[in-house]
Amino acid sequence: MVDINFKYAPLIEELEKIVPFEPELAIILGSGLGDFAEKVNVVKTISTDSLPGYPVSTVAGHKGKIHFAEYKNKKLLVFQGRIHFYEGYRISECIVPVHIAKKMGCKKILLTNAAGGINHEYEPGDLMLVQNFNSINIMKELSELVGLANIDQRNDLLDFPCKELNQKILEASFIEKVDLQKGLYWFVKGPSYETPSEIRMYSKLGGDAVGMSTVHEAYFAHVNKMKVCSISLITNKAAGYTSEKLSHQEVIEVANLAKEKLERLVKRFIMLL
Ligand code: HPA
Repeated sequence: MVDINFKYAPLIEELEKIVPFEPELAIILGSGLGDFAEKVNVVKTISTDSLPGYPVSTVAGHKGKIHFAEYKNKKLLVFQGRIHFYEGYRISECIVPVHIAKKMGCKKILLTNAAGGINHEYEPGDLMLVQNFNSINIMKELSELVGLANIDQRNDLLDFPCKELNQKILEASFIEKVDLQKGLYWFVKGPSYETPSEIRMYSKLGGDAVGMSTVHEAYFAHVNKMKVCSISLITNKAAGYTSEKLSHQEVIEVANLAKEKLERLVKRFIMLL
């Protein structure tokens, strides 16, 4: 069992020397969404390679920066870049941003990601409010987190994602006139995209969007008593739906085209907190 408090103590010590304030909301920016950090008032930026033991993100579009920032008097901790399971890291390493958010005092977390659309009604460029994650119990890798979470408490997964925060995202979408799909985010390990038959299976099991991140971060945040919400940017139709090949380049390009409405939505959401 990994003792995450022990493992990351030097990293947290380093951060505690330089934190300018206690942030209220943490935001993890997904593939192609990194620019959001430039749209808020950044007070302090830390390069993750200056933090001892912080895993190095190897994925294009994931910058490895942590920003203490403000928007409309709300204090934010923004992670520009995330750690993926498919990069070869352990789940206990992938959740380091969430561990940091908790240690810095964040009570809420917004997880954004790029995802493929399993639901036939979803089009590239759509945003999806995550209403559910795929069954935590079938994600074997999460068992590594059992020792990190407080298993004695038999953490419930009822308000997960947090209904109150999801309501605020819905309100924000109404004010900003941004259409939102609502659905179930299905985690896959990656790194390759899915086979068409996998997609048919996930569809039958209720999946609306598929991606390679977020669920373990959300789970770890929830069992650490943070309020969790998540928005997916649908960058492509799922494997087998069109004759086109899936590529990370396409994911980044579509994310670039649609990120403006996601930015508007997130800014309004922050104002409603
Ligand atoms: N599958 C998995 N992850 C993804 C996809 C996809 O189709 N699109 C963006 N991230």
